[in-house]
Amino acid sequence: MIERELHKTFISNDTPILFNNMDDETVIRQFKGFSEFMMMYNCAIKEVRTKFEVLNDDFSVAYNRNPIEMIKSRVKSPISIVEKLKRKNLPVTMESVLENLNDVAGVRVICSFIDDIYMIGKMLTNQDDITLIEVKDYIKNPKPNGYRSYHMIVEIPVFFSNRRQNMRVEIQLRTIAMDFWASLEHKMHYKRDFDGADVLEKELAICADVIASTDEKMQKINYELARLSNDK
Ligand code: GTP
Ligand code: MG
Repeated sequence: MIERELHKTFISNDTPILFNNMDDETVIRQFKGFSEFMMMYNCAIKEVRTKFEVLNDDFSVAYNRNPIEMIKSRVKSPISIVEKLKRKNLPVTMESVLENLNDVAGVRVICSFIDDIYMIGKMLTNQDDITLIEVKDYIKNPKPNGYRSYHMIVEIPVFFSNRRQNMRVEIQLRTIAMDFWASLEHKMHYKRDFDGADVLEKELAICADVIASTDEKMQKINYELARLSNDK
């Protein structure tokens, strides 16, 4: 219990994460506080994943199909967290992470069809324990490189043994094809400034457009098939 209180103090105080010039006991306390902190984000991911799984299960019973193909999730690595705080000139503290970073917990939902993305997104944000903080619709407004996905930052309450904490989660909804494209394009980020980079960037942008029109066609074919089976 005393330990628990220590962690609480640690999280609510502006204590730096960095371990320079600390005695062993302090370092151990910092580590414990930090793993509790990461556990909290992991729990937020579990809550959001479950909500999507429930929607998918309900849908498959009601309409005999699964709008969600796959759910992936990750917690941002401690190094990336510290780097991002420094890049943004923010204090490197847990308090600062909770206040300023929206993407420590990330959930990616892969759907078959574009309309399912909007439907599933709406079904989630309609739930009364979910607060929608921000939306970025890169499907209606693709990035110049061709990136498409529907991003939401949501806040969800997580009930721990002795407290309730509102946690932020970044949700990315995309089609299978958009996910395929983004995985390949992501590799470009590690290999910038090489000969022929601009050629590959152009080719990727063309692929993104082809994928977008294929996604639209697949959606239409799916509606047509659904209509035909309803007519039967
Ligand atoms: P970050 O500082 O990167 O988090 O930017 P942001 O807060 O403006 O977030 P944004 O919603 O634009 O993007 C967040 C996440 O979406 C990234 O961390 C990637 O996972 C994904 N993403 C955004 N743009 C691209 C892109 O051009 N290519 C790929 N492959 N992924 C992207
Ligand atoms: Mg990010």
